[in-house]
Amino acid sequence: MQARSFSKTTIALHWIVGLTIIALMAIGWYMKEFKDYGLYNVHKSVGVIIFAVILYRVVYRLIKGFPTPAGTSGALQAFVAKLVHWALLIGTVLFPLSGVMMSGAGGHGVYVFGVELIAKNIDAATGKTAPINETIAGLGHEIHEFLLWGIGIVLVLHIAGALKHHIIDKDITLKRMIGKA
Ligand code: HEM
Ligand code: HEM
Repeated sequence: MQARSFSKTTIALHWIVGLTIIALMAIGWYMKEFKDYGLYNVHKSVGVIIFAVILYRVVYRLIKGFPTPAGTSGALQAFVAKLVHWALLIGTVLFPLSGVMMSGAGGHGVYVFGVELIAKNIDAATGKTAPINETIAGLGHEIHEFLLWGIGIVLVLHIAGALKHHIIDKDITLKRMIGKA
């Protein structure tokens, strides 16, 4: 049977993770594009903190299962929605993980508002940061860059789907995710 309403945990986790991811994607793109190095530490710190919430959410989702579709759409749309949800969950894990790989293995270190998780690697000869493992750092960088577009496109589909349910189908899909059903 379809759930007419969602638990407070499902709603809170969806919006805390969802809105933070959107903000980090925007900040990440901006700081890289405009070389705003002052934002790097804030981006990395919030990214590591939200990683803990993301892991909790994924475990919660795996235990509880995905919500049954609330709409009257056909089996194909329900299947696409499920694929999109899986892609978003996997993307939310890979984003911070690849960030830590890139910064940690790249020798830049990972600090959460000043608290050291992975130390910087300073080359004694040059006094500059030096990669610890270039392969891992490079892979992390590629994955992080790919996700901007990969998850960006999936997210557009996800938001368009939610709006279509609300405006065209006029069902409770969006309402139950904002706690109004
Ligand atoms: C403004 C942005 C967003 C809107 C309007 C929105 C809307 C919704 C709605 C209405 C549902 C319920 C679908 C159903 O009942 O079948 C849902 C589920 C879901 N959304 Fe979003 N969403 C947004 C952003 C995000 C973001 C940024 C992510 C992750 C990167 C995300 C991940 C998910 C996942 C994984 C589900 C499946 C249920 C769950 O695990 O909580 N959403 N979303
Ligand atoms: C959910 C968490 C995260 C999201 C959504 C996110 C998103 C992004 C995005 C979209 C970019 C721009 C990529 C581009 O324009 O090619 C970026 C850049 C970056 N992110 Fe993240 N990020 C997250 C977590 C992290 C974490 C945890 C770290 C490190 C500990 C990190 C380190 C970086 C760095 C160093 C850059 C700049 C890369 C460069 O200058 O080439 N990110 N991030």
